[in-house]
Amino acid sequence: MFYRAPPQNGKLIILISCFVTLFFVLKLLESRKSVLFVDNFFEKFENNSSDENRIIRTQIHEDQFCIGYNFLEASETFRDSDGLEPVTLATHATSDMMKTLEEMPKMWDGPISVGLFLDIHSVNALKYLEGLHKCLPDFNRKMTIHFAYRISVFQTSCPTVSVPKQTVSCESFLRNKESLRRKISGPFILYPCSLMRNIARWGAKSDIHFIMDGDMIISERLAQKIKSITNKMIDGKSRNVLLVRRFENANDTVIPRDFGQLKDSLMNNKTFEFHHKFYFGGHKIENLDYWINRTGKSSQIESWPIPYMHPGWEPQPILHKNDPYNADYFPSRLKNMQSLIYKLCRANYTFHLLSHVFDVHEGIKLVDTPYSQAVAAHQQTYARDLAQEKYTQEMDYLYPNTLEKCQPFSL
Ligand SMILES: *[C@@H]1O[C@H](CO)[C@@H](O)[C@H](O)[C@H]1NC(C)=O
Ligand SMILES: *[C@@H]1O[C@H](CO)[C@@H](O)[C@H](O)[C@H]1NC(C)=O
Ligand SMILES: *[C@@H]1O[C@H](CO)[C@@H](O)[C@H](O)[C@H]1NC(C)=O
Ligand SMILES: *[C@@H]1O[C@H](CO)[C@@H](O)[C@H](O)[C@H]1NC(C)=O
Ligand SMILES: *[C@@H]1O[C@H](CO)[C@@H](O)[C@H](O)[C@H]1NC(C)=O
Ligand SMILES: *[C@@H]1O[C@H](CO)[C@@H](O)[C@H](O)[C@H]1NC(C)=O
Repeated sequence: MFYRAPPQNGKLIILISCFVTLFFVLKLLESRKSVLFVDNFFEKFENNSSDENRIIRTQIHEDQFCIGYNFLEASETFRDSDGLEPVTLATHATSDMMKTLEEMPKMWDGPISVGLFLDIHSVNALKYLEGLHKCLPDFNRKMTIHFAYRISVFQTSCPTVSVPKQTVSCESFLRNKESLRRKISGPFILYPCSLMRNIARWGAKSDIHFIMDGDMIISERLAQKIKSITNKMIDGKSRNVLLVRRFENANDTVIPRDFGQLKDSLMNNKTFEFHHKFYFGGHKIENLDYWINRTGKSSQIESWPIPYMHPGWEPQPILHKNDPYNADYFPSRLKNMQSLIYKLCRANYTFHLLSHVFDVHEGIKLVDTPYSQAVAAHQQTYARDLAQEKYTQEMDYLYPNTLEKCQPFSL
């Protein structure tokens, strides 16, 4: 007889139960191990597949990223009878840098720690790197590789990842390396470069870290040459930072690997200070002539204090694991390295320049690529102001007495 109206909140209840169901379904999906790899990537090179998978727990970072440490681990520790702490090359990479990573062990005579950023399109880079680690002895001895990726909407925790064991034979892998590499997609992403540098440092197997971009050609035996002086200067307490000079070479010229070659190459206008035509102020280290003079006088590696230049400065530092890290909320392509160097100034670190050793970029930088311009434009619009505010507050809170000395930082 009576028509009973449905309760007013009926729709709400349905909506809530939908969300609750969705939540549990998501939880269930999360708790399963995800298999990361694009399955048929290596198919035609593999004889058979193995059931034995490696399990890597990934951990959530700042509610935004999943980090997997030690995806690959160096087989050598580089701890010698001298008792000195080895210097780790700490660097970051994306999937389009496979060739660069492959070359790296040839140039660095010590441990290397890499933070690799991935997305769903580039995940097969891991399998490629696993191939290198298995099949190239030098890569196996030196390389430790960690990865990170951005979580997706509604994801609240990070999965345990199951990595199928590499079953391809080395003979076949090495033969097909080029074609496998071509199948790995390059990134087009907001790349958290500060976070990736930190991951390389957090995951490093030694306490002293040289923070360098992956695409540099390093002068000969750098890690061994600087071991003794870095152990003396960089102890996690003395607030010292060591800097390595950086150059760039004209296209299609021989890249200098020792001081003698560098001196000639500079004189012949084939090598220049890094970015001498593009944003030079960011990289310039004072008084190259004095550096050449002093290096030429002795075979002993030395260092001497140099002043902090300005808030846009981004030289290549050597730091201890206890020293400051990058502000990893920094927007892509906006003053990432500068913010670390500035933080060191605010923390009252003294900058010291190393004699003799250096690295060189192949080719002279004239402009930014369209990709990096696009990313920088996005980040300037949507991320800059927030990061600027957070960073300024952080610096003023942590280091209230050094603003005048270091000048204000602006993004
Ligand atoms: C498969 O295994 C055979 C015998 O073990 C070997 O000769 C061959 O090279 C392997 N093929 C590939 C693609 O790894
Ligand atoms: C397949 O893998 C198993 C276990 O790794 C190995 O014993 C076997 O020889 C492999 N078969 C071929 C044809 O390569
Ligand atoms: C140097 O080579 C790169 C890549 O091969 C090219 O993109 C660039 O335009 C060249 N630069 C100059 C100054 O020739
Ligand atoms: C190198 O460049 C400088 C300045 O442009 C010039 O004066 C010098 O003659 C050049 N040297 C050589 C060897 O070309
Ligand atoms: C280089 O060394 C010479 C001799 O010691 C000295 O006269 C000259 O001033 C030095 N040049 C620089 C730029 O330091
Ligand atoms: C920074 O260090 C210098 C010595 O290196 C010291 O004299 C100065 O008081 C320090 N400044 C601050 C703000 O801690």
